[in-house]
Amino acid sequence: MKLNLAVGLSISLLFFIDHAHQRASAFRVTWPSSRYRETEREQSQAAAMAEVAPSCKSLECPAYESIHRDKDYEIRRYNGTVWMSTVPPIKNISFVGATKTGFLSLFDYIQGQNTEQAKVPMTAPVLTGIFPSRGPFCESSFVVSFYVPEKFQEKPPEAEKSLALKAKKWDIVYAAVRRFGGYVTDSNIGEEAAKLQASLIDTPWADAISKSQQRIAEGHHDREGKDPSLFSVAQYNSPFEFKNRVNEIWMLFQMEKLTHPSHRSISHI
Ligand SMILES: *[C@@H]1O[C@H](CO)[C@@H](O)[C@H](O)[C@H]1NC(C)=O
Ligand SMILES: *[C@@H]1O[C@H](CO)[C@@H](O)[C@H](O)[C@H]1NC(C)=O
Repeated sequence: MKLNLAVGLSISLLFFIDHAHQRASAFRVTWPSSRYRETEREQSQAAAMAEVAPSCKSLECPAYESIHRDKDYEIRRYNGTVWMSTVPPIKNISFVGATKTGFLSLFDYIQGQNTEQAKVPMTAPVLTGIFPSRGPFCESSFVVSFYVPEKFQEKPPEAEKSLALKAKKWDIVYAAVRRFGGYVTDSNIGEEAAKLQASLIDTPWADAISKSQQRIAEGHHDREGKDPSLFSVAQYNSPFEFKNRVNEIWMLFQMEKLTHPSHRSISHI
């Protein structure tokens, strides 16, 4: 199982990293990252170490329980939560491009382009689920999502059709998380995801994660409400906030009931 995770995900990541390099040299990224200075990078490192992302002090963020915190990763449990997501997934060769497209739809939605013309408060993070393409020069699939504020979770207003957004109710889900500061670019995602993957090897969660990854890779993700992404990138800041930037790579996975051996080992930690 460990091997499966390592092989399956690594192959996908390799394609992804490879693409990212080709893309990075193919066109210039005009996101404000070029204005990002060293002092801001240092502040971001501090923000990345904080227990709660600084944005979550002013914006509503989904609650979670921290199951385990390590130097390089954290295991969290999210209760059933509702997210607005781009349906169908956005195809693009660029993570940054797809995230912008999805974010613009979500922004119109919260500004009132919904059946109730409701203004929905902004939340954090904006989550981009990624299913990397299988071959060179192919587009990857991206699902861009926004956590629906508590007040609207019960009955989220429907998005206007043109926005291509749907509310999705998640089951209880676990997330293996790696934080990093600065800006997310097409060229640093693969690297951060690979680092997360490396820190999870030989942990009590490796088997559960590898099982979930395997199911996704094999295409068992069509059930309504299931996110078909191999991993996701959570961004907690707008592109125009230069300080205290926090981003995370998430690998979502399911844990079986308490009787499962891998779960039993967790209680010994
Ligand atoms: C998740 O749900 C359980 C059971 O309803 C509750 O006790 C717990 O506080 C919730 N956790 C979070 C982080 O909301
Ligand atoms: C794909 O990404 C490019 C480059 O960032 C962007 O200009 C374009 O709008 C994106 N298209 C979609 C459908 O997301």
